[in-house]
Amino acid sequence: MKVLQILNQSLIQSDKKSDKLLNEKWSYNEGRRFLKKRIASKNSICLVAEFGNEIVGYLVGSVKKMESWRPVRRTEIEEMFVKENFRSKGVGSRLVRHFLKWSKESKTQRVLVFVYDSNSKGIKFYKKMGFKKDRLAMEMEVR
Ligand SMILES: CC(C)(COP(=O)(O)OP(=O)(O)OC[C@H]1O[C@@H](n2cnc3c(N)ncnc32)[C@H](O)[C@@H]1OP(=O)(O)O)[C@@H](O)C(=O)NCCC(=O)NCCS
Repeated sequence: MKVLQILNQSLIQSDKKSDKLLNEKWSYNEGRRFLKKRIASKNSICLVAEFGNEIVGYLVGSVKKMESWRPVRRTEIEEMFVKENFRSKGVGSRLVRHFLKWSKESKTQRVLVFVYDSNSKGIKFYKKMGFKKDRLAMEMEVR
């Protein structure tokens, strides 16, 4: 759990480059509870990538609640992070492929992921994995 919290902390630091409003302290309380729930539930999965004795990356995802206005069974990749020294070695791809396999077994029709528009590496990575841009979330600052 501690290792996952540290990886989550690194993910938040990385996402902070795109979104300065993120709460760095989230990992320690709510984040811990969130991970525990994801590990315990049948409707979610927590994958870790190990190299030797070291956990070098993780992926957390779950089955989403089906909306009546769009009755599609979907899973979502909620958190994913690979340590910088271990990137571009296929770790992320393997995590996603395993998640897609689990999604298929969970009778899922679609897989969702949110990526910041400025995270060009993340977008490129997901496109390579077969994801396509769908809706665009827009936000504005209120002054
Ligand atoms: C996005 C992220 C998870 C990708 O992880 P990764 O382990 O580097 O992913 P992969 O190695 O599978 O693929 C990345 C690149 O390596 C290439 N690659 C895959 N297998 C490879 C191999 N065996 N040898 C060399 N390169 C390889 C891929 O083609 C890809 O190349 P590209 O960046 O030029 O398109 C990682 O960059 C990361 O943690 N980023 C910060 C957090 C983040 O953005 N998370 C996603 C949003 S939630």
